[in-house]
Amino acid sequence: MKKLILTLCMITPLLFAGETETIKAPDKALQNTMVTLSEGLMRIQQGILYNKKEEVLAGVRMLKKTKEGFLTRHGEALQKYMPENPKFAMSMAKLSETNIESYTREIRSDILSKKDYERVTTGYTKIINECFKCHQQLRRWEWR
Ligand code: HEC
Repeated sequence: MKKLILTLCMITPLLFAGETETIKAPDKALQNTMVTLSEGLMRIQQGILYNKKEEVLAGVRMLKKTKEGFLTRHGEALQKYMPENPKFAMSMAKLSETNIESYTREIRSDILSKKDYERVTTGYTKIINECFKCHQQLRRWEWR
């Protein structure tokens, strides 16, 4: 009996340590979405730098490929980054999602209907600011 209690005392902290690790572990689905977002954004940037509309539009399609609810559907994972204020995490995700969608639409119409190519860089900047805002506030990333 003594031995059993001793073993339990030794194992329990290990179990809890394991649990905290899983909570902090990166979320694969969220990371996949993020990788698609950054690939889309990079294509938009390449399109701007090489003056290629088609490349910008391909980037726009990639951003759209992330589907509806591309951030909010990762709500559970995102909330873990801000356990003290999960509501803020959710509203931030919702807002970024709406903004990114609308800036992406703007870029598309700047190219296809307005043919105002100068404005594409504005859309690009607005999108990257959305990414950065969340990384800084929710993910609390710091410059290295
Ligand atoms: C609502 C919050 C939020 C927004 C908006 C957001 N991200 Fe992220 N991003 C995160 C979080 C949280 C992580 C950390 C994911 C992890 O490691 O589990 C992350 C991670 C990343 C990573 C690293 C992925 C990896 O494999 O380690 C990249 C790249 C990235 N984001 C790109 C972007 C781009 C590009 C945008 C904008 C188009 C964007 N993110 C917008 C929250 C956000």
